[in-house]
Amino acid sequence: MLQIGSVKLKNWLVMAPMAGITNLPFRIMAKRLGAGLVTTEMISAVGLSIGQERTLGYLTTHPSERPLAVQIFGSTPEVMARAAGTVVDAGADLVDINMGCPVRKVIKTGAGGALLRSPRKVEEIVSAVRRNCNVPLTVKIRAGWAVDQPSASIIAKIVENCGADAITVHPRFVVQGFSGTSDWTIIARVKDQIKIPVIGNGDIFSPSLAFEMKRETGCDGVMIGRGAVGNPWIFRQVLDLERGLPAHMPGLDERRSIIMEHFRLLSISVGETRAAKNMRGLALWYTKGLPYSNRFRGSITGIKDSDTLMSALDRYFTLIKESRFTISNRSISGPTTYPLPVEDRI
Ligand SMILES: Cc1cc2nc3c(=O)[nH]c(=O)nc-3n(C[C@H](O)[C@H](O)[C@H](O)COP(=O)(O)O)c2cc1C
Repeated sequence: MLQIGSVKLKNWLVMAPMAGITNLPFRIMAKRLGAGLVTTEMISAVGLSIGQERTLGYLTTHPSERPLAVQIFGSTPEVMARAAGTVVDAGADLVDINMGCPVRKVIKTGAGGALLRSPRKVEEIVSAVRRNCNVPLTVKIRAGWAVDQPSASIIAKIVENCGADAITVHPRFVVQGFSGTSDWTIIARVKDQIKIPVIGNGDIFSPSLAFEMKRETGCDGVMIGRGAVGNPWIFRQVLDLERGLPAHMPGLDERRSIIMEHFRLLSISVGETRAAKNMRGLALWYTKGLPYSNRFRGSITGIKDSDTLMSALDRYFTLIKESRFTISNRSISGPTTYPLPVEDRI
């Protein structure tokens, strides 16, 4: 169990915020499959402040995903404080501040990872948001700007002193983007220096790694991002291991019904037309590592409506079932990486 301020989570597993991925259907699936807390993708404080329709759309929520953390990004204390008020009014159970995003578009506005170079700004933003936010407040940081400018420990201390209730540490430097591996010793160092809960994040691609991170760093919670994409049952698998059970790997039928349910939620959430495009991406993630997945990929290129896509998926699952392929814990392995587009990196 993990408690963040007044919010008691049912376990210590957190679904990472991921732009373009952690929309409402994805969050509902992660929650159903064991995540203790789910987080929206990052939402622009400026967009909220001018009432931009698309930005406000990110705040759509459903009771089944609660408690919900809403992540905001920005660089102006007053705008961030107002944004926090807006997201709380819209139903956020926790507010999270993004201080790690490496995308150029965000960095150049002084937001996201750029804040790790400005401890004073961090102090102003967290204090302002804290004053205008009556739900638990968390901050998500990286290791620092660059290897020669590590700042996680200093920033974590400031964040704690300004009244945040927990901090998430993704121990890569901003300039690293998603390259290399995350250095978990940085999470351990932050944990040693502050009293509020520390959520460790970075490179959890199998259920056992969640325990390794907890053991090696002493962190209070573990956040999983890419390792849950196309693999949302990873949360349930961690909970299986915690109970001393083998990690249950969904078989073909279960996998098919999880995908279909995800599709159904998506259609309800964004409408048939937009859902189809998103579903194609999801279908690729969900079938990664399964036999004939390359052939399947080819077969769905260009499909524009969800019915045709679902039929293609059905045919594909029938094909692998007929080939008597069985899924074991060893049959699908390796990180599923979704690097941000190169042009978006700094
Ligand atoms: C496609 C993508 C989008 C992301 N969007 C966000 C975001 O909106 N806010 C955020 O704080 N981190 C974002 N991240 C970073 C993740 O939350 C997480 O910190 C990172 O992926 C490391 O965790 P992992 O190794 O478990 O994936 C994103 C990562 C990816 C791959």
